[in-house]
Amino acid sequence: MTTKELENITAQALDLVKEVAGFIKEQLGQVAAADIADKGVNSLVSYVDRESEKRLVAGLKKISPQAVFLTEEETVDTVVGDLKWIIDPLDGTTNFLHQVPVFAISVGLEYRGTMVAGVVGELMREEYFYAWQGGGAHLNGQRIAVSAADKLFDSCICIGLPPAEGVLYQQTLHLLAEFLPVTRGVRNLGAAAVEAVYVACGRFDAFMEQGLSPWDIAAGAIIVEEAGGKVTDIRGGQDQVYGRSFVASNGRLHQALLDAAGTLPG
Ligand code: IPD
Ligand code: CA
Ligand code: CA
Repeated sequence: MTTKELENITAQALDLVKEVAGFIKEQLGQVAAADIADKGVNSLVSYVDRESEKRLVAGLKKISPQAVFLTEEETVDTVVGDLKWIIDPLDGTTNFLHQVPVFAISVGLEYRGTMVAGVVGELMREEYFYAWQGGGAHLNGQRIAVSAADKLFDSCICIGLPPAEGVLYQQTLHLLAEFLPVTRGVRNLGAAAVEAVYVACGRFDAFMEQGLSPWDIAAGAIIVEEAGGKVTDIRGGQDQVYGRSFVASNGRLHQALLDAAGTLPG
């Protein structure tokens, strides 16, 4: 696919994400307790997630009829294909249901195993982050870039908080103990897609989380890369989308995060 074709697809996906954002925002504060289901430890879902996904899938089918889908709520069959949309219809569901105003739509486009475009809309701030391969990363029409920090001591980093069970729980506590004393601060926003794009625009200098699924960070990964940052799995390899571990940074701090990951218990 050419850069121009990807730019065009990204622009159409961006319009669609803005449209579906309107639906999600209308539902804020409207979801009854009876409409909330528990998918697992620390994992909620409601009709809002599913309806958002259906609208995204319907719109993306019009944009690229040949594409297949990988979606969190499984409202569409997952099949093999060269061109694949990877969708999180509502990232930060727990925030949304608690009316904590940090949640997003995340839509990434993969071509033959490589992320080639992505849109992350942070809905309440109306901040739309997007990128396409070779086209740079953008926030509401402006080019964005990762930070220049090269010392942990000057950095604000984000550590993901995966479900509080098993070895991941111990490892998360370990990472907090590693980074809290040696950085300006450690943050968590409860929405991995937002946390990734905050690295892309330099608000966070780095972000790492384990236990994520492809839809959490598919779009964020290419947005960080196109913003000049680096993304890997926690071993420094390139399995960051499917490998259930994600490290994003401004590049300069990447090794410091991988070093900490190398000391994880378990
Ligand atoms: C979750 C959020 C959260 C992360 C979880 C994800 P969801 O996504 O991104 O920050 O810690 O691992 O599952 O369920 O709100 O789409
Ligand atoms: Ca998610
Ligand atoms: Ca979700």
